[in-house]
Amino acid sequence: MTKPLAGIKVVDMTHVQAGPACTQMLGFFGADVIKIEMPGSGDVTRAWLRDIDGKDSLYFTMFNGNKRSLTLNTKTPEGREILEKLIKEADVLVENFAPGAMNRMGFSWERIHNELNPRLIMASVKGYAEGHANENYKVFENVAQCSGGAAATTGFWDGPPLVSGAALGDSNSGMHLCIGILAAMQQRHNTGKGQKVAVAMQDACLNLVRIKLRDQQRLELTGRLDEYPHGELGIPLGESTPRGGNAGGGGQPGWMLKCKGAHNGTDPDDYVYFTLQANAWHKICERIGKMEWIDDPEYNTFEARRDKQFKIFEYVESLLVDMDKHQATVWAAEFDIPCGPVNSMKELAYDPSLRKLKTIVEVDHPDRGGKYLTIGSPIKFSDADIEVTRSPLLGEHTDEILKELGYSDADINRIREAKAL
Ligand code: COA
Repeated sequence: MTKPLAGIKVVDMTHVQAGPACTQMLGFFGADVIKIEMPGSGDVTRAWLRDIDGKDSLYFTMFNGNKRSLTLNTKTPEGREILEKLIKEADVLVENFAPGAMNRMGFSWERIHNELNPRLIMASVKGYAEGHANENYKVFENVAQCSGGAAATTGFWDGPPLVSGAALGDSNSGMHLCIGILAAMQQRHNTGKGQKVAVAMQDACLNLVRIKLRDQQRLELTGRLDEYPHGELGIPLGESTPRGGNAGGGGQPGWMLKCKGAHNGTDPDDYVYFTLQANAWHKICERIGKMEWIDDPEYNTFEARRDKQFKIFEYVESLLVDMDKHQATVWAAEFDIPCGPVNSMKELAYDPSLRKLKTIVEVDHPDRGGKYLTIGSPIKFSDADIEVTRSPLLGEHTDEILKELGYSDADINRIREAKAL
């Protein structure tokens, strides 16, 4: 079976998470991803939060599968020459250094495009977009969640802003970049020209809080946000989209309901998210045994229920005292009510369906002395089988890649002695 990106060569100058998440996805899709790393140390995450002394960390292994590693000091004359050769043969270069680092290294977009390879697509992640007032700032994940509007709209109204466990700044930016690269490759089919593709972490995060900008406008236009708990609880809305706790963001009210283990304190994750979908009202009433609410004008419209949502959620919760979240999910699904369990990381790690579908995969890594768990491609293809391969050791493919570029063993020894590898 072929792979979607078979034959595509990617020069991977990424580090930490945002860039590596992008290039790993390109690797899943079958591109030849050559990760360039500083000799001696490599991607800084190789040593972050190690679980085995002296071995590559799970941070590194989980974001750098399906790649080859080339150690190269790109600031030496020899390293510079090798990078130039790689760029001349590549389709895509991905980087997420601090603003200006590629220029300082001598590889500006202008030089790459005009002198080295006009077909190359150069893709970058930065904290802020070029031309933004903060364009020169360095940014990490949670800073992006704050700059992009996620933190201000996450959490409870009486608590501080919260960051999400999902990497809305890092991996999300990498996925946006991946989309941009694929679009630019398609455009290149028509024009024959490469282009620069840029994603700002702030923008990628903002793109996922679109609903909250919707709410900002509704708030300014109407002074109301009916699906937020504020009205019912008598909390003033203020001037900005507030933090809505676990309120449903899309338009259908919902809330997190305790199940058996959360009721009796034995399982902190025993919750379901229950949605009061408007057109499921009849079935919800049947399911919870409140037939009298079906046609009651005090309950039978979204507007009428606006100030009774918590009363309804409390009642539903009282029915879940003896059910765990999985039983509660089946109980709701029997009546077509959108409801789902709060899956813990442990449950996801061992979920048989996710294992079967290769969304959660075990990868053998002899240097770590066994297998590690990682997340495979969330995108499934009918005509391509996505295999996850282990992350490379630092410089594991240096000789192999240099030979492909035409260097002899003697050349490689000379370059190594010059400390460029
Ligand atoms: N050979 C020679 N030099 C190399 C090299 C190599 N193989 N690999 C990296 N370097 C150099 C870079 O050229 C740069 O040097 P310079 O500062 O002299 O220009 C330096 O190593 C490291 O760059 P920098 O990106 O500044 O690292 P940092 O650890 O200080 O900052 C970030 C890390 C993530 C904050 C920063 O890279 C950043 O803001 N990136 C953009 C946004 C982003 O992606 N953030 C999220 C990461 S998950």
